[in-house]
Amino acid sequence: MAATRNVMRAIRVFEFGGPEVLKLQSDVVIPDPKGNQVLIKVHACGVNPVETYIRSGSYARKPALPYTPGTDVAGVIEGVGEHVTAFKKGDRVFTTGTVSGGYAEYTLAAADRVFPLSDKLDFRQGAAIGIPYCTAYRALFQKGRAKAGESVLVHGASGGVGIAACQIARACGLKVLGTAGTEEGMNLILRNGAHQAFNHREANYIDKIKECTGMEGVDIIIEMLSNVNLAADLQLLARAGRVMVVGCRGPVEINPRDTMSKELSIIGVSLFLATEEERQECAAALLDGIAAGWLKPSVGSEYPLERVVKAHEDIINSSGARGKMVLLP
Ligand SMILES: NC(=O)c1ccc[n+]([C@@H]2O[C@H](COP(=O)([O-])OP(=O)(O)OC[C@H]3O[C@@H](n4cnc5c(N)ncnc54)[C@H](OP(=O)(O)O)[C@@H]3O)[C@@H](O)[C@H]2O)c1
Repeated sequence: MAATRNVMRAIRVFEFGGPEVLKLQSDVVIPDPKGNQVLIKVHACGVNPVETYIRSGSYARKPALPYTPGTDVAGVIEGVGEHVTAFKKGDRVFTTGTVSGGYAEYTLAAADRVFPLSDKLDFRQGAAIGIPYCTAYRALFQKGRAKAGESVLVHGASGGVGIAACQIARACGLKVLGTAGTEEGMNLILRNGAHQAFNHREANYIDKIKECTGMEGVDIIIEMLSNVNLAADLQLLARAGRVMVVGCRGPVEINPRDTMSKELSIIGVSLFLATEEERQECAAALLDGIAAGWLKPSVGSEYPLERVVKAHEDIINSSGARGKMVLLP
């Protein structure tokens, strides 16, 4: 294959540290796709909180330095390796993983992490699918065993994973409650599958959720900030309820006795631990959702590649999420 240019702009990280270690370089060599790889011209790349943990060096898995962050891109196939038959130059695609990093004008990806991008979705929406929707699906079904007719509280529903969880749960027949930190966020989640929305910045919002669920409580909680909410979650669950620990930024004190009276489960979720079979099951469900029209990512803030430092600061420090954050190379 032959790329039209042989160098590109890309973000490179040479040392772990604060957002300032994200360096924009203009002379990064565009890689050649080999074997089962494809080369994608990146139109948008999702920014996920995990990329800030990895960049800081505090995450359990550390890439070899230097590296380019980013797993969830959407773009157009520029070239394919000699064993690739599923894609050809010009195809619109999105990824759930990359080989060379997505914060760049071009990225290499293994063909089994690449999926056709429906005309129903634009590139920014395509870049919002990977980690958020796979995590939401895993939390709800592969780990949470959610069933139609059950109720779910998406605790932190206005961000990438939260909107995905609301859409998937609603489409699969669950009763969906969600929380956000602003009026705008609450309206957003109501438009994306939630039957009811609550504001997690309001002092008495837990009481309001209790009032709404009555004596019964919710069957499942998808928790984005366990270090703040876990103890309250145990009060909100129904008998045999389960809280899915998706996000956690520190320790928390709970009384384990609270799990006994209703035989509750606290279940950790790690997308990284999904097996190949689970990844395929999830991808099939998401592609069905796109075809059916209920999977429609909601994109919030957008940053050009040169503002990646600000994007990393904002995804951790800003409140008032409005859907998925994306970078536009
Ligand atoms: N376990 C895994 O495999 C896995 C995979 C993906 C993501 N995650 C984690 O899941 C979390 C969410 O990821 P994301 O991509 O959705 O991030 P995001 O787009 O930045 O969204 C963060 C969400 O957290 C909400 N939030 C803020 N304060 C909250 C509170 N007190 N209680 C409940 N929610 C609160 C935000 O609401 P407002 O801004 O409206 O206040 C927003 O909805 C992150 O911690 C991320 O690291 C884990």
